[in-house]
Amino acid sequence: MKILLINGSPHERGCTHTALAEMEKAIRAEGLDTEILWIGQDAVRGCTGCGACFKMKKNRCVFDADAVNRVLEKCEEADGFVFGSPVHYASAGGSITSLMDRMFYAGSRLMRHKPACAVVSARRAGTTAAIDQLNKYFTISGMPIAPSQYWPMVHGNTPEEVMQDEEGLQIMRTLGRNLVWMVKSFALARENGILPPAPEAEKKRTNFIR
Ligand SMILES: Cc1cc2nc3c(=O)[nH]c(=O)nc-3n(C[C@H](O)[C@H](O)[C@H](O)COP(=O)(O)O)c2cc1C
Repeated sequence: MKILLINGSPHERGCTHTALAEMEKAIRAEGLDTEILWIGQDAVRGCTGCGACFKMKKNRCVFDADAVNRVLEKCEEADGFVFGSPVHYASAGGSITSLMDRMFYAGSRLMRHKPACAVVSARRAGTTAAIDQLNKYFTISGMPIAPSQYWPMVHGNTPEEVMQDEEGLQIMRTLGRNLVWMVKSFALARENGILPPAPEAEKKRTNFIR
């Protein structure tokens, strides 16, 4: 079983990575495989709403030049997910926002019913708003959210500062262990015939026009 930790920061080894690395250690100690995947610094274009992903039905975005399809490929084999982001103007970063818009629009089927959580890093403020933003991708996609002992944030402007945030690091370790517990529990449930509920035959889609 494997957990994919996505570093949505422009900094490969920055504060977000420091939080993810602390989680990774706790996850590995519980016996699961991990991969930290950095989305890089190249531009991630926004979703154009072209609908080509629905027509192709391949769980991929029609725009192949940036990180989106590379991350979607990794999602196929992952059993759980961590989406990490720095806080930029009290929201998630621009690149990971574009990445998640397109990932979830094109390939949420690859993640449905798999546990996930968000992790954010900030110098000071905007953390809970950014966490709320990230959690919304999970709750519209049938993904149970792993909890911790506090909301999943670390504080610091440099990795060294994050390492001084002892509470933040403990939150990461607790989050990692809880995520593993959920992934293992879901696997055991599946083995015992307890499967995710099937969707209703017809998916309703009601637009309000008046
Ligand atoms: C464009 C930009 C906007 C930021 N906005 C906020 C903010 O709203 N609140 C905050 O506390 N820190 C803010 N920061 C600081 C980062 O969130 C903080 O340094 C974070 O830990 C960096 O993580 P990283 O090293 O993984 O990129 C901002 C940084 C940048 C570059």
